[in-house]
Amino acid sequence: MAENSIDSLLQEHRRFPPSEQFAAQSVASPNLSSEARADRLEFWATQARECLDWHSPFTEVLDWSNAPFARWFADGTLNVAYNCLDRHVLAGRGDRVAFHWEGEPGDSRTITYAELTTEVKRAANALASLGIGQGDRVAIYMPVVPEAVVAMLAVARLGAVHSVVFGGFSAESLRSRIEDAQAKLVITADGGWRKGKVFPLKPVVDAALESGAESVEHVLVVRRGENPVAWADARDLWWHDTVGSASPEHEAEGFEAENPLFILYTSGTTGKPKGILHTSGGYLTQAAFTHRNVFDLHPESDVYWCTADVGWITGHSYVVYGPLANGATQVLYEGTPDSPHPGRWWELIEKYRVSIFYTAPTAIRSFMKLGREIPDGFDLSSIRVLGSVGEPINPEAWIWYHDVIGAGTAPIVDTWWQTETGAIMIAALPGQTTLKPGSAQVPIPGVTIDILGEDGTRVDPPHGGLLVVSEPWPSMLRGIWGDPERFKETYWSRFSTPEKARYFAGDGAHVDEDGDIWLLGRVDDVMNISGHRLSTTEIESALVSHPMVAEAAVVGAADEQTGQAVVAFVILRAEFAGDMTPDEASAALRAHVATAIGAIARPRQVFVVAELPKTRSGKIMRRLLQDVAEGRAIGDTTTLADTSVMQIITTNVTG
Ligand code: WTA
Repeated sequence: MAENSIDSLLQEHRRFPPSEQFAAQSVASPNLSSEARADRLEFWATQARECLDWHSPFTEVLDWSNAPFARWFADGTLNVAYNCLDRHVLAGRGDRVAFHWEGEPGDSRTITYAELTTEVKRAANALASLGIGQGDRVAIYMPVVPEAVVAMLAVARLGAVHSVVFGGFSAESLRSRIEDAQAKLVITADGGWRKGKVFPLKPVVDAALESGAESVEHVLVVRRGENPVAWADARDLWWHDTVGSASPEHEAEGFEAENPLFILYTSGTTGKPKGILHTSGGYLTQAAFTHRNVFDLHPESDVYWCTADVGWITGHSYVVYGPLANGATQVLYEGTPDSPHPGRWWELIEKYRVSIFYTAPTAIRSFMKLGREIPDGFDLSSIRVLGSVGEPINPEAWIWYHDVIGAGTAPIVDTWWQTETGAIMIAALPGQTTLKPGSAQVPIPGVTIDILGEDGTRVDPPHGGLLVVSEPWPSMLRGIWGDPERFKETYWSRFSTPEKARYFAGDGAHVDEDGDIWLLGRVDDVMNISGHRLSTTEIESALVSHPMVAEAAVVGAADEQTGQAVVAFVILRAEFAGDMTPDEASAALRAHVATAIGAIARPRQVFVVAELPKTRSGKIMRRLLQDVAEGRAIGDTTTLADTSVMQIITTNVTG
C-alpha cells in the first residue's frame, strides 16, 4: 500500500547521510537556512535578485496588508520569458542545449537556447497579430512537444495568461475550463503520440467549441500526429504558417511582478475544478530557487529530466519555468514509459546521460513490479540526483529507486508541494540533509510549515495533525480565478486568526523528533491517483449525469500501483435496473466517466448497489465504503441511519 501510516513510518529507521564528496560540490550554500531564519523577507529579496533579471528593480518585498491576497516584489517589473530565454543568449550561452526532445515513435530534436528564443519571439509576434495582449487568456491543449513550451513562453512574453489543459482531459472538461477563463485563443495540435498510437486533440477542441466556449476567436494548430482534422477556415490556423511566417525579432517588455502568468485548473472538494492563479515575479523566484538548490543543479554540466506532462503544475514549474530560468539542459519526452518497450525511460537516460531525474512514486512502483533486470540493462551511471513528487513515496519504493536507479549513491529528494503552492515547499537539500526514506523532511529555507491539531494548536511528535503554511511564500497562489470567496474559504478559513492568516493545505502529516515531516495523504475529498488530483464529488457528478444512475458515491481506495484508485458505488434508477447486468452497467459507467472527465478519472471499479450508507442527516459515510473497497472489516456503523445497509452492500460487492 502506497499511503503512509504513522505506525509503519515510525518503524522506518534507515538513514542516508550525504557523502562528503557530494557535500563538497553542492550548490546550496550551508547558510541558506540560517539566513532565511534571520530575515525571511530579506532572504527572498536576495533570491529574487540573484535568480532573476528585473526590467526595473523592486523596493518592496511583500505586501500582506490585505491577507490572504499577497503581493510580492510588486513595484518591480520583469519579463518571465526574457528570464527563461534572452538573458541566457545575451550572456553568451545561446549554444547551450535547452531541450533534447524525443518523440514517442523515436524522432528527436535538439533545441538550443538561441533557437528556442527565436522560436518564442516568432510565436509572440504571431500571437500578437491574432490580437493577444497583456491579460488575455490563452488555452493550451497539447502533447509534450517543444511547441507546447514555446506556446507557454510566447504567452508569458506578451504578459498574457495561459491555461494549459492536460491533453488527456475530455472535450467537456476542456470546454468548462475555456469558459471559466474566457480564453480568446486555443493552441493545440492535430494529435500526439501515446502508447504507439496517435491520440487526436484538434477533434476534441472542435467538440469543446461546438458546445459553447464562445470567447474563442482562433485555434492555432501544430502539426504533429498527421491525423485528419476538420477545418474551420475563419477560425483555424496552422502553427507552421502563422508562426513560421512571423518575424523573429521581438523585444520583451517588462510587466509588473504581480502580472498574472497562468491559471491551472485543479480538483478541489466540490465538483467544479478551481482555476489556480499564479503571477510572475514571486512564482519565478521560488521555481528557480528551488530548482537550483533542491536538485543541486549545475547548469553547465547537468542533464535534467522531469517526466511530468506540461499539463500539470510539475510540468509548469519544473519543466518550463524553473529549469529554463536557470539555463538548464533538459530531456523532454512525448510518450509513455513503456512505449515501444518497457526500458524506454532508461534508454533515454543512457542516450542523453541524464544526471538529475525527477518522477512520481507511481512510476517507480510500476518499474519495481517489472523487475530490476530492465533498468539493469542500461547504463544509468550518469545519474547523481533523484527526485520524487506527487504522493508520499513508500520506503520500499524509495529504497528500490535509490539502489536500482541511483546505484545506491544518488540522493533522493522527496518534494512536497501543490498546484497552489506553485513550487517546492518541503524537501531535503542534497548534500546537507541526512535522508530518511518516506519522509519529505524539511521546509525549504524561507518557508514556514506547522502541523496543527483540529483545535489549531501545534501537535507534538510523534502525533499526526494537519499541515499548514504559517507565513506567505513568493510562489503562493494569488487566488482562484473569478472566485475570491472560494479562495478564502477553501484555504484560509480553517486555521487563520484575526492576527494571522494561515494556509491549510488539505494534507495530513506528522513531525518526528528531528523535526522531519512525514506526509500522510489528503484529509479531504480529494483523491490522488498516480499522483494526479481528482475529487470524489467531481466523479460522482459525472456518474449521476448518466440517465441510468440515481445516486453515486466515490472513494479513493488504496492501490498498490497507483497509490489510490477510484472506486464507485452506484444505485441505478428503478426503470433501468433490469436493462443490463451489473457487469454491463459497471462497464458502461466506467466508460461514461472517462468520456465526461478524461481517462485518468475512469473508475477501477463501479459497484451497483441497492443502498448507500448514510448518517441520519443524510450524509454518505464514505469511510465505510472505503472499508469495503479496500476489503477490510467494516468499521463503526453506529451513526448509520440504517445499520443493515452495510450488510447489503458487502453482499452486493463480494457477490
Ligand atoms: C500530494 C503536485 C506526499 C499532496 C505537485 C498534495 C505529496 C497534492 C507529495 C498536490 C509528496 C504532492 N509527498 N504527498 N512529495 N507531493 N503530494 O496539486 O496530497 O497535483 O496536497 O501538485 O499531492 O497535488 P498537485
